[in-house]
Amino acid sequence: MKSVFVHPQALVEADTIGEGTRIWAFSHVMSGARVGKNCNIGEHCFVEGGAQIGDNTTVKNGNMVWEGVTLEEGVFVGPHVFFTNDLYPRSPRLPEARDRYADKRNWLQPTRVKCGATLGVGAVILPGITVGEYALVAAGACLTKDVPPYGLVKGAPARLCGWVCRCGQPVRFRGARATCKACGRRFQKTRRCVRFLGED
Ligand SMILES: CC(C)(COP(=O)(O)OP(=O)(O)OC[C@H]1O[C@@H](n2cnc3c(N)ncnc32)[C@H](O)[C@@H]1OP(=O)(O)O)[C@@H](O)C(=O)NCCC(=O)NCCS
Ligand SMILES: [Zn+2]
Repeated sequence: MKSVFVHPQALVEADTIGEGTRIWAFSHVMSGARVGKNCNIGEHCFVEGGAQIGDNTTVKNGNMVWEGVTLEEGVFVGPHVFFTNDLYPRSPRLPEARDRYADKRNWLQPTRVKCGATLGVGAVILPGITVGEYALVAAGACLTKDVPPYGLVKGAPARLCGWVCRCGQPVRFRGARATCKACGRRFQKTRRCVRFLGED
């Protein structure tokens, strides 16, 4: 069985780290965070209690994964992505805001990044957003809406501008069906929705 590797200069308080996972220097995984098997968490990351990271996920350097964020299996988080969990934030210590922060249900909005999706470097993910399976969020995009499965989005605010395969390469539709030139996987499109049909 592969063991967990925790760099001597990392701080890991969570007791739910899956086998084969590696956590590099100057990263802090708080108690109450869950990290799956065979993950790689780069340097200078913070994983807050309540965050969930699925198996085979890569979190590059400089990421803060807050409570309420769920990264499913096989997700790639590029360097310095900005996750958020509160749409109208205030200091909970401000007397006028204290009541709102007395109960997480008032402010905490979850983020879900589904299986196989990629978040490009420096993307901003506003609260309450779901990134669909195998979607690709471009470098520097600002997500204000959900991203459909296999969608490619870019810009600020991010707009849907294409589709990508499970292997990460672009898929171009002429009609309702397309085949990935890189790997031969087949897809079907109906309006703003793409479905995986199978392998060639
Ligand atoms: C978005 C991306 C996948 C390329 O998509 P693409 O549609 O194939 O892009 P192209 O290179 O064909 O460019 C098409 C247009 O999109 C623009 N574009 C490319 N990347 C962009 C981005 N991140 N944000 C905004 N616009 C972008 C190009 O300037 C071009 O615009 P134009 O038509 O006005 O000239 C790629 O640029 C990207 O952001 N990849 C993620 C890289 C990353 O973060 N890696 C992290 C690990 S190191
Ligand atoms: Zn492919």
